[in-house]
Amino acid sequence: MMTIAMDGPAGAGKSTAAKLAAKELGIHYVDTGAMYRAIAYGILKAAPDEEALDDLVRGMDVRVEYIDNEQHVYVDGEDVMGVIRTPEVSAAASRYAALPVVREKLLGVQRTIAEEYDVVMDGRDIGTVVLPHAETKIFITADPAERARRRALELEMRTGEKQDVDAIEREIRERDYRDSHREIAPLKQADDAILLDTTHMSIEEVVAEVCRLAKEHHA
Ligand code: DC
Repeated sequence: MMTIAMDGPAGAGKSTAAKLAAKELGIHYVDTGAMYRAIAYGILKAAPDEEALDDLVRGMDVRVEYIDNEQHVYVDGEDVMGVIRTPEVSAAASRYAALPVVREKLLGVQRTIAEEYDVVMDGRDIGTVVLPHAETKIFITADPAERARRRALELEMRTGEKQDVDAIEREIRERDYRDSHREIAPLKQADDAILLDTTHMSIEEVVAEVCRLAKEHHA
């Protein structure tokens, strides 16, 4: 199987590069962040009491399907792809991703997908925890200021509204801190992962490098 694990902080260009590399390699792009966002969305929607949270997550029906090579995540039958990219869900996903019950729930889902398909899987703990034997492990990063600039540009293109780059950088730094300092499966470069700093790279250069490494390791 071809398995490429791509980890790194928010806004490093990871998902864009992973998606394009998967297309070029003719394999599945697996977005694990979307799965954490989906559970966070389910929690926000149900707004459970503190004591009911674990049971709610355990009982949630989380399914992942690939339709025309696009990943869809369903929570209790609802396709949530259109509602999980809000700042509210981003912050909640980062918070709830620290809960053992949430990580346990998704670990099996993610491993099963990688057993079934050749994948480029992106996240925070793919090379360290989910797929420790992945053929290729890449840790993608970039300066926080550059990541904020890219995220602002993306949001401006999507919404047509001018963005506050400093506020976005603060949000990115907070999320990085939370994701790297949690007890279980923190954001961390695997010992055998290749570090790719994309601060001064174009997206085409990143994709080319990911594909080159994947082919080299698969040969
Ligand atoms: O990649 P993203 O921004 O869509 O991820 C949303 C949040 O989910 C992120 O702040 C941390 C969490 N996450 C995680 O803990 N482990 C993963 N493998 C993927 C995402």
